[in-house]
Amino acid sequence: MAAHVPLVDLHAQYRAHKAELDSAMAGIIRASAYIGGAAVRRFEEAFAAYCGVKHGVGVGSGTAALTLGLKALGLRPGEGVLVPSFTFVATAHSVIEAGGRPVFVDVDPFRFTLDPEACERALKREKGIRFIIPVHLYGQMADMDAVSALARRYKLTIFEDAAQAHGARFRGRRAGSFGAAAAFSFYPSKNLGAYGDGGILVTNDARVADKVVRLRDQGRPREGRSKYLHPGVGGNHRLDGLQAAILNVKLAHLDEWNERRRTAASLYTRLLEGHERIRVPSIAPHSQHVFHIYAVHVRHRDKVLERLRAEGVSADVHYPIPLHMQPSMRFLGHRKGDFPVSELLARTCLSLPLYPELRPSQIRRVVRALDASVRGA
Ligand SMILES: Cc1ncc(COP(=O)(O)O)c(C=O)c1O
Repeated sequence: MAAHVPLVDLHAQYRAHKAELDSAMAGIIRASAYIGGAAVRRFEEAFAAYCGVKHGVGVGSGTAALTLGLKALGLRPGEGVLVPSFTFVATAHSVIEAGGRPVFVDVDPFRFTLDPEACERALKREKGIRFIIPVHLYGQMADMDAVSALARRYKLTIFEDAAQAHGARFRGRRAGSFGAAAAFSFYPSKNLGAYGDGGILVTNDARVADKVVRLRDQGRPREGRSKYLHPGVGGNHRLDGLQAAILNVKLAHLDEWNERRRTAASLYTRLLEGHERIRVPSIAPHSQHVFHIYAVHVRHRDKVLERLRAEGVSADVHYPIPLHMQPSMRFLGHRKGDFPVSELLARTCLSLPLYPELRPSQIRRVVRALDASVRGA
């Protein structure tokens, strides 16, 4: 059988940048700068500047960035937050963890992000909603013209979930620079990934940044008077020094890696476009996609997936259960059929291998295996 094609290959990236990464990690170990320190500060400043915003606050995960961000933006207990029904579960769980209540909205069938008309219907149905979380799913930004117009009309605070969209652009502006704040994840397989968990909140609002600084570290401000003086309450959601050192090295390569992802994605699309049984992803106008995930849509998806895997191609599904159908969200009282686009996408989406080092010969092999699998399914 032909060689296995993995969904992602994190070791290929490490091999390509081993000297730089090893030296950065050794520097942290030599200095014993494991918690906080210069590497964390340097990364916070560099990543905020990369996004085109003023402040960055490193935290322990993308989920922590979302949860602490919502608290810092002033979410009140029980308050409704507009959230797409098709995303990774952390978007909605963070709302609940922060004391709020997800108000699900269906997604656009081509962009897979918040459907602006469905948002408007939800806002008319439930008065007084103050927050909207557009998720830039798979690496493509939500329609930020429409989201911004809604925000103006209904006085909404925009909080971007940019966990899958490091470096993505809409009308030339980067993800993270549209909302009152934005959350990113550095989960290892993300476009910018740490060697463990990590995340960041970015914002232009110094007060929001300062609140997240305190919430991430037992209520302490950045420049506290004493290590053991706690003006407020907070938890432990810090980004550690080793992760920050790794991210500092990797950030310098992010644009090049995103470009390689786009090149790989366009080869997939060129080879698959027009296939009668496969729908390829669309790129919306004014959008620069960073292809965190390259997802096609096929009927009999589970059978196709099984055949692909048997052929040595590691495909996957992001995500098989729309959020309103998750057991954890049962208390919201939704039923099957409430968000039909999300339900259809969850049944048909199939993520193909994609990472910067993926070779054209591997892409051709995946395409051949996919073609055989959809014909046989
Ligand atoms: C859309 C989205 N939101 C939030 C998260 C949560 O990030 P983390 O896994 O770093 O907590 C992820 C990533 O896993 C994600 O894909």
